Amino acid sequence: MAALDPSVTVAVVGAGAMGQGIAQVAAQAGHPVLLVDTRPGAAQAAVESIARALTALVEKGKRTAAERDATVDRLRAVKGLPDLAPAGLVVEAIVEDLDVKRRLFAELEGIVGRDAILATNTSSLSVTAIGAGVQRPERLAGLHFFNPAPLMALVEIVSGLATDSGVLDTLFDTAKAWGKSPVRCRSTPGFIVNRVARPFYAEGLRLVQEQAADPATIDAVAREAGGFRMGPFELMDLIGHDVNFAVTRSVHAAYFGDPRFQPSLIQQELVEAGRLGRKTGRGFYDHSPGAANPMP
Ligand code: NAI
Repeated sequence: MAALDPSVTVAVVGAGAMGQGIAQVAAQAGHPVLLVDTRPGAAQAAVESIARALTALVEKGKRTAAERDATVDRLRAVKGLPDLAPAGLVVEAIVEDLDVKRRLFAELEGIVGRDAILATNTSSLSVTAIGAGVQRPERLAGLHFFNPAPLMALVEIVSGLATDSGVLDTLFDTAKAWGKSPVRCRSTPGFIVNRVARPFYAEGLRLVQEQAADPATIDAVAREAGGFRMGPFELMDLIGHDVNFAVTRSVHAAYFGDPRFQPSLIQQELVEAGRLGRKTGRGFYDHSPGAANPMP
C-alpha cells in the first residue's frame, strides 16, 4: 500500500489550532486541501494565518516565496460539509466530544466517496467508539498529530477494532511522505504519548501538592538533570490546562478510575480560575508581557 498521491484532496474539519496545522502540512506536501469549521470565518482566518506563518519563514530564508504561494494556493476555506465531496482523506480536528465526532462522521459518510479514508485527530477518545458510529468503520482510523503539527514530527496512526490494515498502511506511508515520523498503535486510552506522559505531569503535581518543591525547581530539574526539553509545568502551560486536564480525566475514566491516572485538584483549580497557561497569559507561570517569570 502506498502513500496517498498528492493529487488526492484532503479535507480538514475544524480549523482550530490542530486543524490549521494539519491543513498546512497536507498543503505543503502538495495536496489540494479543503478546510471547514462551524464558526463563521474560522476556516478563512486559518488560511490567512497559515499564509502569515509561511511569509515569516520566507523572511527567515527557510522557504521561497514561490513555495509559500504554491502552498497557499492549494488551501481553500469552504462553507459546509457538502463541499467536502471530492476528498479522498478527511481529517477531523473538532471539539473533543465523542457524540459530536460520531455525528460528524455519520454525516460525512453520506458526502464523501466510498473509498475515502476517515481519520480523527482525537487525543484521548476511543477510535473504536468513534468508528462504531459509522456504517463502514473499517475505513476510520486515528491520525494523531502533536501541537504544533507543522513542527512536531511524531504522528500516531491509531487502529480501532474494525480498522482495515490497508487503511492504516496508507495513513502510515502518507504521514511519512508528509515528512513525519509515524508510529502505529492500537486504540487504548491516551494511545502511547498521552499515556506515557500522564505520570510525568501527575508526579510533578503531587510534588507541588506535598510542598516538596515549587514548579520552577521541578521544571529546572527535569530540563537540566533529566534532559527533557521542558519540565512538566512548562509543558502543561504550553498545552493548556483545559486540554491537559480533560485528557487526564478521560484516561482516568477509561481505566475505570485507576488511581495511577487520578486527576489533580491543583490543575482543576487552575481550569476553574481560567488560568489555562500561555493561551490566557497565566498558568503555573505568568506569561503576560514583561512578566518576571516568563517561560524559557
Ligand atoms: P480548537 O478548539 O483549537 O479547534 C476546534 C475547532 O473545531 C474550532 O474552531 C471549532 O469551531 C471547530 N468545530 C467544533 N465543532 C465542529 C463541527 N461539528 N464541525 C466543524 N468544526 C467544528 O481545538 P484543537 O486544540 O485544535 O483540538 C482539536 C482536536 O485535536 C481535538 O480532538 C483535540 O483533542 C485534538 N488534539 C489537540 C491537541 C492540542 O494540543 N490542542 C493535540 C493533539 C490533538
